[in-house]
Formats: sequence, C-alpha cells, structure tokens
Amino acid sequence: MKYPWWKGAVIYQVYPRSFYDSNNDGVGDLKGIVEKLDYFQWLGVDAIWLSPIFKSPMVDFGYDISDYRNIDPIFGTMEDFDLLLEESHKRGIRVILDQVYNHTSDQHPWFLESKSSKINPKADWYIWKDGEPGKFPNNWQSFFGGPAWQWYEERKQYYLHLFTKEQPDLNWRNPQVKKAVFDTIDFWLKKGVDGFRFDVVNMFCKDIKFRDNPTEESGEQQAIFNTDRPETLLVVEEIQELVEKYPGRVTIGEVASPQGLYSYLEYTKPGRLNLAFNFEFMNIPAFEATLFRKIVEDTERIFKNLSWPCYVLGNHDCKRVRSRYSGGESIDESMEKCKLLATMLLTLRGTSMIYYGEEIGMEEMIIPYEEIQDPEGKNLWPEKIGRDGCRTPMQWNNSQYGGFSSIKPWLPVNQNRTEINVEKQKNDPNSLLNFYRSLIKLRKGSNALKLGKLSVLKSSKNVFAYLRSWKEEQIIVALNFSSENISADLKLTGKAKVIHSNRRRINEICRLQNLELCSYEALILKLYE
Ligand code: GLC
Repeated sequence: MKYPWWKGAVIYQVYPRSFYDSNNDGVGDLKGIVEKLDYFQWLGVDAIWLSPIFKSPMVDFGYDISDYRNIDPIFGTMEDFDLLLEESHKRGIRVILDQVYNHTSDQHPWFLESKSSKINPKADWYIWKDGEPGKFPNNWQSFFGGPAWQWYEERKQYYLHLFTKEQPDLNWRNPQVKKAVFDTIDFWLKKGVDGFRFDVVNMFCKDIKFRDNPTEESGEQQAIFNTDRPETLLVVEEIQELVEKYPGRVTIGEVASPQGLYSYLEYTKPGRLNLAFNFEFMNIPAFEATLFRKIVEDTERIFKNLSWPCYVLGNHDCKRVRSRYSGGESIDESMEKCKLLATMLLTLRGTSMIYYGEEIGMEEMIIPYEEIQDPEGKNLWPEKIGRDGCRTPMQWNNSQYGGFSSIKPWLPVNQNRTEINVEKQKNDPNSLLNFYRSLIKLRKGSNALKLGKLSVLKSSKNVFAYLRSWKEEQIIVALNFSSENISADLKLTGKAKVIHSNRRRINEICRLQNLELCSYEALILKLYE
C-alpha cells in the first residue's frame, strides 16, 4: 500500500523575513532561502512551508496581500521563486505556500474597486454593512483589538476586518470571490508547488445573520458567529477537490478555533483538508508529563483513523518553545527539555512541524516598545506584547547580526547568538541541532515511527511513554519530564535496545521492568522482534 508523502513527514516552517538576507537590506528573501537549501537537506526535512511571500504593504508582514500572484520585491522576484522551487525539488525538498484568503490587503485592487462605490462590479466582494458612525453593525471584535468594523465615509458603510483595518474580510458567499480565489490556487498548483497552508481557514464564512457574539463575564468574546461556521466546510471541500486534481499535493489548515481538537478533526475529515495544525501543545503552561500525555491521548481518541494528526511546538504567532518552559535554569538544563520535546514531536503518530530556529533552541526575545513591529503588539501593548519575539533573525553564526545579514536587521538579533547558532551546534555532536538531525534520520528509517499505531503506556506521574508499532517493528518512547532520575514502571518486562537518547549510548541494552530514566531523559528503545 502506498502512503501519501506527508504522512509521517517532517515539515519546516520558514518565516522568510527572518531566515536569511542574501541582498543585505536587513530583511530575509527568497534567494536567501535558496542559499540555505543545503541546510534543510542536511537536516533531513521533507518539505518547507513559507509564511507569505506575496506582494503586500506588510502591515501584518505579508498576511495582508495586495497581489496573490506576484512576489513582494522585498523577497525577490518570480524568477527567484521559480529557482527556489526548482532547486528544492532537485534536493527532494517540497515547497508549501501560505495562502491567505480570509482577507486581502486594503491595497488589493479588488478592495480598491469594491470601496469605490456601492454599485461597482466588486461592490459585494467584501463584507459591507449599513450603519452610522459609532453604531457598529454588531459586536464583533478584531483579533488585534477594537471593533471588527471600519467606517468608510465614501460608501457610508462599514466593512468587516477580523484582523487589522488594513485587512478587509472577503465575502466568501459571493461566487465570484470563490472563483477568483480558486483560479489563484490553480495558478500556484500549475506552477508546481507541493501544497498549501490555509491561513485562518475556519473563518472564511460568517454567520448569515451576523448575530452578536456572546460575551463572557471577563468581557472576552466567544467568536462563535465569525469562526467555525458550517458553510466553511463546504468551501473547504471544494478547495480540496481542486487540489486533488494535482496528485501529491498537501493541504494544511490553520484552524484557529476555540473548539481545538474537535475542529481540527472537522476540517480534516475525508474530502476535506489533509492536515490541520494541532496547536494544543502551544497552550501548555507547564513542563509536565501529564499535560502533554493528555493532549496526545485526546488527539488519538478524537482522531482515531478518521484523520491524520499534525503536531506543532511553535510558530510565528506564539512564544518560542524553549522560553515557554524555562525558569532561570542553566542552558544545559533547558536544552535537555528541548531535546525531550523534540523526541516527542518526532516520534508521535502524525506529521511533525518544526518552526525555524527551534532546532537550535532559539529563545523568545523581549522587544522594547519603541522597536515593536507587529500590529498586535502595537495595538494591544502592554496587555499583549506582540509576536516579534519569536520572529527574530535566524542565528547562523556568532557574528554581529548572527550571520543573517551584514546590516542591522528588521528585528534585533538575540544576544545569545554567540552560544545559540547553527555553526557552533553543527560542530558539536551533543548539540540540540545534531539531536534533531539524528531524530529525523531515525524517523525516516522507521515505519513504526512514521506510520505506526500509537498506544500510550501506563507510567508514573512524571513520565510520558508510548509504544509505536508497525507489523513486527515495535518502538518504545519514554520521556522523563522531571529533573530527578527515576525508575518508571511501564508494566513491561524483558529487554530492549537503546536506539536514541539524550542521556546514554546507542545500542545499550535496557531492562524494561522498572526502567531507569535519567533527569529529562528522552529514551527511544527498540523491542526485540
Ligand atoms: C494567522 C497568521 C497570523 C496572522 C493572521 C491574520 O493567524 O498565522 O500571523 O496575523 O492569521 O492573517
């Protein structure tokens, strides 16, 4: 039986502005990514997904698109993109593009036309509503703060923007909008891209009656009338139908939903998207085995064989994973925690996503207010400090700008570049980077890890352990989340061979009964056939 390539694959997220600046203007670009393709090949990833590279006024750093079929000059040209695609494919690396179709930029020609009058051909391409200044059509809030409605004097109407006011929401109930978007998707499929990530895909259709969202006692709104509307699932099925005309492509949804796992499942049932990011790990407040175990158990229970999971530790919208669980401990200790999480990410049943820099343990950076770039931080500071801290330039080496650029980059480079950088870690066999690389290699060579069944094993409070199995191949993963050495009762007997660990030598033979685990040990064992 043949399995689609993305099952069990490892996909690396590139945030192009911050990856590598080939022309020294302080912002990363496509040629920069081309220059680093050998790095992905060395690391062993199957594919890269790129945050938006299309023409954009950059109010939300590319998530406000003004031309879906052209590359923004800050990133390069279409020729650069063609080169990136060709060179990636030569190396066996697939390329996935970010598609943002909930909204466009307010500079998109569609919006310029739409706002020009109430009777132009695109008048109904966005969500316009009558009202009067100060009297909003309903209570919906923008995710970046304030009302989601912007008054536009010329039309004497409001338009809807679930994000910044420079990101007006498209009207997905208009068949012409659908057609225009589908044509664009087809354009990129014809170009030969290997798949798409669909931005806030569960927000496309809004409540037909535009009902007010319920408000919790805390004042927070439950965005139930502008997210997860059932009609969106029909749109998603049509998108999938289109993409499936081209074999071997993958669709990944950013399903930003309060329903979490239930919604990820809904969007990835047969005939819908192939994958939806499972964001649940990103919300875990403490480094505790029970919390991580619960998410995996719930995912397995809810997904069953209906859909394929897709795990994520971090992305461009959330605090860096290394900083999430570090409480002033030594670098060594926090790196061990990262190794444990990397082991988990790359041995679970599901596609694994790596966010750039995670593989070297890049940390969240606190950006001073005056240097904040992100609209979320600008609008909501100090309640929300924005997302710049996880978007700082990739740390390639220990030079002044981390080998990212020769001039001052658009966001500061973390001072810890002297310790945390690719060059240094490549040369250190015990580094997090080499650990990621060997895990990816192990996963690639194992059907049990890529495709096998997962059964959570009973164990003590601080241990999360599971069995992965595929035909005769049986692999045990045991993760000790505590700083103490412990002996874990996995209710197993016999012996097994160490095939990966941050704490001990490969090929060592272990006794399974009362399995000894060092502090923060992430142990992978192979059972004898
Ligand atoms: C998604 C993106 C985020 C962006 C938002 C609006 O959540 O990941 O970066 O700001 O959509 O497009």
